[in-house]
Amino acid sequence: MADSKKKKMTVLDFKKYKEEGKKFTYVTAYDYTMASIVNESKTEVILVGDSLGNTMLGYDGTTAVTMEEIIHHAKAVRRGAPDTFIVADLPFGSYQESIEQALHNAIRLYKETACDCVKLEGGVEMAETIKAIVNIGVPVMGHIGLTPQTAGSLGGFKVQGGTPEGARKLVEDAKALEEAGAFSIVLECVPKGVAKAVTEACSVPILGIGAGPYVDCQVLVIHDMLDMFGDFKPKFVKHFAHLRRDMVNALNTFHEESLSGEFPSPEYSFNAKVEGFEV
Ligand code: KIV
Repeated sequence: MADSKKKKMTVLDFKKYKEEGKKFTYVTAYDYTMASIVNESKTEVILVGDSLGNTMLGYDGTTAVTMEEIIHHAKAVRRGAPDTFIVADLPFGSYQESIEQALHNAIRLYKETACDCVKLEGGVEMAETIKAIVNIGVPVMGHIGLTPQTAGSLGGFKVQGGTPEGARKLVEDAKALEEAGAFSIVLECVPKGVAKAVTEACSVPILGIGAGPYVDCQVLVIHDMLDMFGDFKPKFVKHFAHLRRDMVNALNTFHEESLSGEFPSPEYSFNAKVEGFEV
């Protein structure tokens, strides 16, 4: 498994791709098997996002996710995806208290999981924190627009930058993060014209999720794009497969064939004859 010929991206490649106008893709993964599948695909970047709170742990949101949970999942992803650039999220409460706290947890995440960078949410107000983390040698990816960790104070999961002031603030935030040393920035849930302006204002790649086509990279949560959630589908998500339906169908076929005796046929049985135990 995890037998891929692709060349792992480096932090320097992000800027190079932007300069060359080369697009790339970025999805979440939270466990060994899913990571090994992504590793085998052409996808360049994996996020061990705090969305694992929803997708893997059944929490209501991302704020309850802990450092231990992210570390546990990121280690498994690293084992499954040795050829893919891996981003690990700093969870809510692990970097906002002080620069010292942010440094402590960024170092811990980077060192214990062997991820390729850490990601944290926030705009101008996080610039000093990002600068401090980058200065000690840990690459940082920013995240602005809809920031799920603080969605409550944004009034919920809503499109951001929907007014001229809001749009200008996003451009300012992105530029502040780039200046602080972030090598790329996730931009979540913003109108496509605003995303275009942010993308043009920055020389580091803008990684858009729900941000339209004029960004440098498209990002999706893997459970969304593979349709594993059933009824829940944000507007910006396209289902590229229907795994939930296919898995339920497979389980029901297993159930029916097991009850009817069709499974396991001789093909799936050990058929050696044992004296006194013939069938
Ligand atoms: O945790 C996550 O999945 C994210 C994406 C929404 C970018 O941060």
